[in-house]
Amino acid sequence: MTEHITVTEFGGVLEIRFDRADKKNAITSAMYTAMADALDRADADPGILAVLFSGAGDSFTAGNDLNDFLAAPRLLEESPGGRFIRTIAKARKVLIAAVHGSAVGIGTTLLLHCDLVYAGRSARLALPFVKLGLVPEAASSLLLPRLMGYQRAAELILLGEPFDAETARELGLVNRVVDDAELLATARAAATAVAALPPSAVQQSKALMKANHAGVAECMADELQRFSTQLRSAEFKEAAQAFLEKRPPNFAKLRGVGP
Ligand code: COA
Repeated sequence: MTEHITVTEFGGVLEIRFDRADKKNAITSAMYTAMADALDRADADPGILAVLFSGAGDSFTAGNDLNDFLAAPRLLEESPGGRFIRTIAKARKVLIAAVHGSAVGIGTTLLLHCDLVYAGRSARLALPFVKLGLVPEAASSLLLPRLMGYQRAAELILLGEPFDAETARELGLVNRVVDDAELLATARAAATAVAALPPSAVQQSKALMKANHAGVAECMADELQRFSTQLRSAEFKEAAQAFLEKRPPNFAKLRGVGP
């Protein structure tokens, strides 16, 4: 367990809260491990029927901690991030997200593995992988085009521009947009409602819907391999250092055409 992930339980629901508000809830390896442990516990515990992801402060999460990526430039299947991604993909219990503020990188791709997603009007989602010299993860390169069509997914993945809660709802990533003040209550009420349903029927129904997720594991493995290669690239180093130094990246320099 880490101080940056808070896990609470109420009425058959396990709530996993990103709790690192001063860093916009950026996720470290220790946080991935704490979340995967909590998800494993939820899957094994017959008393838990739903898992709710939420974020403390003004953000859901700013995605993977970029310092962690620079320090350990590998995202292999058995790394904490790889384990977390595989755990959300195979979760048997209902996964619900309450998204507000920034939801960047894995903050958006994890939504593809949630069963119900509620967004506050402040939500700003983004998939800045390419801008960072990286590639998409969590099978988002497969699931996003499947969800919204190729060109719409390509725009989000290749250009990486942020999009708002209403756009996310139109694209099918979000069930409902509510005022931020109502977000947690809305998501917790949905989780509590799920927990009151007959558990076996819920889990079997989820299993049936996920049965057409063929190719997810293979896609994740392919993504992780390419991701690891890109993490070790000069492109990623320049992008991450530029972010941490609060300056624009200079990719032209890498092509030998800039100053
Ligand atoms: N990794 C590490 N630190 C991060 C971070 C991340 N992914 N995201 C934010 N932080 C840190 C910032 O470095 C800053 O730290 P400081 O106060 O010590 O300088 C602090 O969190 C606040 O971030 P800031 O950028 O000042 O907040 P903002 O409200 O202006 O912008 C974001 C919020 C989320 C839009 C912006 O922080 C951002 O783009 N983060 C990077 C997202 C990203 O690329 N994630 C990786 C995806 S693979």
